[in-house]
Amino acid sequence: MATEVRAGSDGEQQLMLIYKKTTIPKLPMIILVSLLFFLFLLSQFHIHRRTTAHSTAADLRIRHGYTSYDSHIERQLNKTLNPKLRKIWTTRDWDRKVSVFSAFFDSLKRRSLLSNHSKALSIGARVGQEVAALKLVGVEDSVGIDLVPRPPLVVEGDFHAQPFDDETFDFEFSNVFDHALYPWKFVGEIQRTLKSGGVCVLHVALSRRTDKYSANDLYSVRPLVELFNRSDLVEVNKVDGFGLDTEVVFRKKIK
Ligand SMILES: C[S@@+](CC[C@H](N)C(=O)[O-])C[C@H]1O[C@@H](n2cnc3c(N)ncnc32)[C@H](O)[C@@H]1O
Ligand SMILES: *[C@@H]1O[C@H](CO)[C@@H](O)[C@H](O)[C@H]1NC(C)=O
Ligand SMILES: *[C@@H]1O[C@H](CO)[C@@H](O)[C@H](O)[C@H]1NC(C)=O
Ligand SMILES: *[C@@H]1O[C@H](CO)[C@@H](O)[C@H](O)[C@H]1NC(C)=O
Repeated sequence: MATEVRAGSDGEQQLMLIYKKTTIPKLPMIILVSLLFFLFLLSQFHIHRRTTAHSTAADLRIRHGYTSYDSHIERQLNKTLNPKLRKIWTTRDWDRKVSVFSAFFDSLKRRSLLSNHSKALSIGARVGQEVAALKLVGVEDSVGIDLVPRPPLVVEGDFHAQPFDDETFDFEFSNVFDHALYPWKFVGEIQRTLKSGGVCVLHVALSRRTDKYSANDLYSVRPLVELFNRSDLVEVNKVDGFGLDTEVVFRKKIK
């Protein structure tokens, strides 16, 4: 014990000596303190950036387990091409779904987000109930795309690479954002094919998880706002749309 205490006090004395000998001059001291403060600010900035990026990524998660883009598409096709299901979608389900979609589109017309003169696209329209609904409410110039065509309402097209020229549509609707393996391409294509001032309406699920055919999970509107980087967010509404709970409306910026 005694040795330790002595060693301790020796150390203290040595330290005092060093301190006395090397008193830091004022100017370098100021520079040093400024540098430390600057480094502190920089680290805060980085932490802030990282948390923002992190929570955005956390609010949009791509489901892993697809070995390739082709296997993802093949899986989608396996369901969409199923003859028994197609029979049900075009018979028993038809009227009910057309009437629910018509109510959505009527409501958008009342809010001046859609008009009879709009050139309209529905993305991932499957057998075309939503296109039939657009026509029923008076939007005659409307068409759908899906991996599987069903003319005349639905033409063949991949939403990751829409088969349309730039600035083609006044209005685009989709309730299949969750099926996009590459959400930035899904949104990039919408922004490319919309005219400036054109409106995009998405129905998404925020509070419940979608089915096993989905390729991503969305937990807030924020990732959409970041992806729609050529558009303004216009509205966010609660809806009851076949398991999808939120309607998000964007308008492409006027150049
Ligand atoms: C859940 S269904 C929705 C069908 C329709 N919108 C409805 O509400 O009845 C998803 C649809 O997205 C289509 N789909 C999936 N991946 C696609 C892609 N890359 N391009 C176009 N359509 C795709 C599927 O073929 C399927 O018809
Ligand atoms: C799609 O179905 C075919 C046969 O109907 C099967 O061979 C194939 O593995 C399925 N693909 C996927 C991705 O489920
Ligand atoms: C739009 O079309 C519908 C259905 O054809 C029609 O009832 C309605 O009057 C039209 N609205 C306008 C503003 O022209
Ligand atoms: C929008 O984001 C995409 C990538 O998702 C990027 O390539 C593009 O340059 C961005 N556009 C603008 C206007 O920021």
